[in-house]
Formats: sequence, structure tokens, C-alpha cells
Amino acid sequence: MANPLKLGVLISGSGSNLQSIIDNIEKGSLNAVIKIVISNNPDAYGITRAKKHGLPVLIFKHEDFKSREDFDLELIKNLQSNHVQLVVLAGFMRILTSLFLREFQQRIINIHPALLPAFPGTHVQKQALEYGVKFTGCTVHFVDEGVDTGPIIIQSVLPVLDDDTEETLAARILKEEHRIYPQAIQFYADGKIEIDGRRVKIKSADKPSFPALHNPPLVGV
Ligand code: GRF
Repeated sequence: MANPLKLGVLISGSGSNLQSIIDNIEKGSLNAVIKIVISNNPDAYGITRAKKHGLPVLIFKHEDFKSREDFDLELIKNLQSNHVQLVVLAGFMRILTSLFLREFQQRIINIHPALLPAFPGTHVQKQALEYGVKFTGCTVHFVDEGVDTGPIIIQSVLPVLDDDTEETLAARILKEEHRIYPQAIQFYADGKIEIDGRRVKIKSADKPSFPALHNPPLVGV
């Protein structure tokens, strides 16, 4: 087996996606190693999760830095000194500067709890419910200069149910996030990701087994 992919995971909150990455590494389904976890929020529960698994954690409060660039330089320094190959944003609530993006070009990925390009930004489950979409989901994508605009690696589609609330929908989406994020990282670790402009192709991936999804299901047509 190839050497494990070296990850730097950036968090700001609960860290449930970090947890799913840790769990997949520990059970051997993800060939990666988390070299460093960095939080910009000292109260993030993800810090506790990381420490429980003996992972090195750094906490940088952005208010301690003069500028966004200074903050990003500190991130870059620590990711590089840990020989990080892929930067994984896992609920990291901070826009990165072009300095950071240039340094890790096509080596930063993010997870977003909607079917991009629908509903970028925040409060996305609320946006999806208010809009009345019949499907939503989650997306793993490369990070570029925009907000949630980079090339898409993998998406998971979920039906929106009539009795869904923001909370029930968010919980179902999160469960799927925990499946597709480790999968996207494993595609990367396997060198299977080909980026062609906006289109990302996964070498030798199976074709989806369904022709279309319907919500509500079709009845007799
Ligand atoms: C997830 O919903 C993710 O899609 C979004 O922020 C949330 C982070 O959750 N970017 P967690 O900290 O991984 O539990």
C-alpha cells in the first residue's frame, strides 16, 4: 500500500467530520494520517475529539493576528512544517486569503451541507427548506477564491421530507457528510482525481446505478 496521505485538518466547531475521518483511518478504510489539527476557536469540541485520539492540535485565534495574511502565514508555516499534502476544511468558519490558496493550490478541500451550486454560504438547510427544493444534500469540493465555488469532487443527494425541520434535515445531511468526506480523501490518496477545468473526474469510478431520482416517487407513469 502507498504511504498514507498526510492531512492537515482545520476546524472551528463540533468536529464530527474530523471524527469520521479519524474513525475511517482507524478502521483502515482511509489510507491517511492526520499530521495536525488546527482550530481558530479555542472552545471547539473538535479539539477534545482530536486530543482523545492523541492528535497534535494547534489553536490560533484570528483576533491575535494583525491581518488575515498574518493568520494565514501562521497556518501555512505549521502545515508545511508538518509536511501536509492535503488541507481538509472540516467546518472551518474562516475565509482563506489568496496567499493560502496559492500555497496549497488544488490541495484544499471543503465539505458543504448543500448540493452546490445551490445554497452556498451559511444557514443552508434553512435556505433549502424555504426555497422548497425536493432534494438537497452535501458536496465535497476543491477550494478556490470564491465562497463554496470550487470544482466538485463528490455529492450526496437526499430527499427533503414534508415534515423536515432545519434540525432533522441537518442531521440527515451530516450523516452523509461523514460518508462522502473520507471517500473523497481516499480518492485523492489513491491519485484518482483528475481536474479538467471545473470538472473533476474520478479514474475508474463505477457509474451510478440509478438513472434518476424522484421525490415524491412517481406513481403509475
Ligand atoms: C458541516 O455541516 C459542514 O458541512 C460545514 O460545517 C459543518 C461542520 O460540522 N462546513 P462538524 O464540525 O464537522 O461537526
